[in-house]
Amino acid sequence: MRQGKVTVVGAGFYGSTTALRLAEYDIFDEVVLTDIIEGKPEGIALDINQSRPIEGFETKLTGQTTSPAGEGYEAIAGSQIVIITAGLPRKPGMSRMDLIETNAKIVRAVVDQVVKHAPEAVLIVVSNPLDEMTALAAKASGFPSQRVIGQAGMLDTARFSYFAAERLGVPVGSVRTLTLGSHGDTMVPVPSACTVDGRPLADLLSAAEISALVERTRAGGAEIVGLLKTGSAYYAPSAAAARMARAVAEDSGVTMPVCTWVDGQYGISGVYLGVEARLGAAGVLSVVERDLTEPELAGLRQAAEAVRAKQADVASL
Ligand code: 2OP
Repeated sequence: MRQGKVTVVGAGFYGSTTALRLAEYDIFDEVVLTDIIEGKPEGIALDINQSRPIEGFETKLTGQTTSPAGEGYEAIAGSQIVIITAGLPRKPGMSRMDLIETNAKIVRAVVDQVVKHAPEAVLIVVSNPLDEMTALAAKASGFPSQRVIGQAGMLDTARFSYFAAERLGVPVGSVRTLTLGSHGDTMVPVPSACTVDGRPLADLLSAAEISALVERTRAGGAEIVGLLKTGSAYYAPSAAAARMARAVAEDSGVTMPVCTWVDGQYGISGVYLGVEARLGAAGVLSVVERDLTEPELAGLRQAAEAVRAKQADVASL
């Protein structure tokens, strides 16, 4: 059954690809796409709507230009889910952290409007630096922490799985990997959770080979920025964000690696961090804690402290 409304804020490549994926699921009544660039979201919505007779989906796209003062945001009213992609992407040579000040202002302004027009929504944040922007969105919205989630672990994990599948020459579907921690330098790969057709990855690759895959995963976003030169990745990121929104819309309870509020799990408290969580209509239903090896746990705790320090800085931006 088709039902509900989901909004994507930001009609750049990330936002427009996410809107397209959500519409093609054909499970929503309406997908709203907004942007501050006059006419851009309307144009993209018209284009996607014209693809509906060909692809055979009925979900309607609505494009809406919004002004910096918030005009146009009425269009998002009633959204159960709002995905925030607004903000600048990296340029070659930049780290995600270089975007912090600019994107904090943009994300805060968007969140203010979301609170006004869609106060019941689950927020999915994808703007960078991800862990900090998620924490900022939670603080600025005042929403309960389970209703503010960041997208990163799905993407990082997908990159890791793809690299492992390529290296081993096996279908991507036979590979399971996991990354926790931050969407950045303190990303924590979890080799103990990595398998290929149920066999531990460590039985198939040497520690050095696994670490090479991990390094490429950690720099996975930068590798694409370096190739594109004028923006960052969006096909895999939008797939990850759309799947999270789908889990919320369908109240599926599926477990995914996401950025969420951690309060006691793994001995870590009071920080937005990449961990596994069950997603459903309320947002995060529960954080899933798994057995980690000592080095993995140490890595996760280190990531938590790095992210905690930055999240404290961002609160004042
Ligand atoms: C990436 O890793 C956009 O941060 C995102 O590609």
